[in-house]
Amino acid sequence: MKGSMTWEETIKFIRTQPEYKYLVKKAYFEENLALNVERFRKSEEFIETLQLLKKHHPNAKEILDIGSGNGISAIALALEGFNVVTVEPDESDTIGAGAIRKLKAHYNITNLVIHEVFAEEIGFADESFDIVYARQCMHHAYDLEKFVAEASRVVKKDGFFMTIRDHVIFNKKDKEWFLEKHPLHKFYGGENAFKPEEYKNAMEKAGLEVVKELKYYDSIINYFPSSKEDIINMFKVKQSKAILSLDKKIGFLSKFSFIQKMYFRRIGLFKENVYDESRIPGRMYSYIAVKK
Ligand SMILES: C[S@@+](CC[C@H](N)C(=O)[O-])C[C@H]1O[C@@H](n2cnc3c(N)ncnc32)[C@H](O)[C@@H]1O
Repeated sequence: MKGSMTWEETIKFIRTQPEYKYLVKKAYFEENLALNVERFRKSEEFIETLQLLKKHHPNAKEILDIGSGNGISAIALALEGFNVVTVEPDESDTIGAGAIRKLKAHYNITNLVIHEVFAEEIGFADESFDIVYARQCMHHAYDLEKFVAEASRVVKKDGFFMTIRDHVIFNKKDKEWFLEKHPLHKFYGGENAFKPEEYKNAMEKAGLEVVKELKYYDSIINYFPSSKEDIINMFKVKQSKAILSLDKKIGFLSKFSFIQKMYFRRIGLFKENVYDESRIPGRMYSYIAVKK
């Protein structure tokens, strides 16, 4: 079974499986393409992304969206008024260029052009775009340095390359753990991740200056659909759950805070552990890198 399906087959399959219902929704894989776009446009992730785009390049107009998938971000950016060019090698009308074409027609969009090509092979002229944006795509590069070099080549001077929600790993074992835990890798075998240094070195080598590295807990762009409040309350929620389980074991004694503290220590419930991103398989990072 491992890796025997294509990406499109995987998505069509999981749509039929009740246990993947939440994943299908949270990853915008629903059959109704326009519904995915509408949900994405309203998401806190996209709102935060737009704020960053505007902060770092208030006058940006031309955007290249690399690895656009079923078009959620490309369409959302076009609806915001940017002139968008999409690069998506998969022709699928479920999760690829075909889907973006359907959405382009649905919204009657004229400021969006679709290219079915890999990022490593884009043929656009040098310095064509104010911003090159890639959502959950750079970690799929078949040649990371070439991928980033092409993105850098086509971005204008003082423009930037923004990569969001890319899986990062810290060592070989961490990568194996990520692939094992990834919910869809077993179906299509196409997951991947790089070390933060590998992403950053590729950017620096391509003439980009990394001005922002957003680690997992630094931004809702990475941890969405969890909210900022979910993250802030995470430690308290874990403490409450631990107290409940302690109550089942020792009854009223669990009400005493010194006993709770001893119990937290015994089970390793500390803030630094709860917010330790190394406990999340393939945690995601985002980057902004300016063209020098
Ligand atoms: C996880 S999906 C993300 C899709 C979309 N950006 C989103 O966030 O929903 C990764 C996408 O990158 C595309 N892709 C994979 N390798 C690529 C490459 N070398 N160059 C450009 N796109 C690539 C895949 O076809 C896929 O649509």
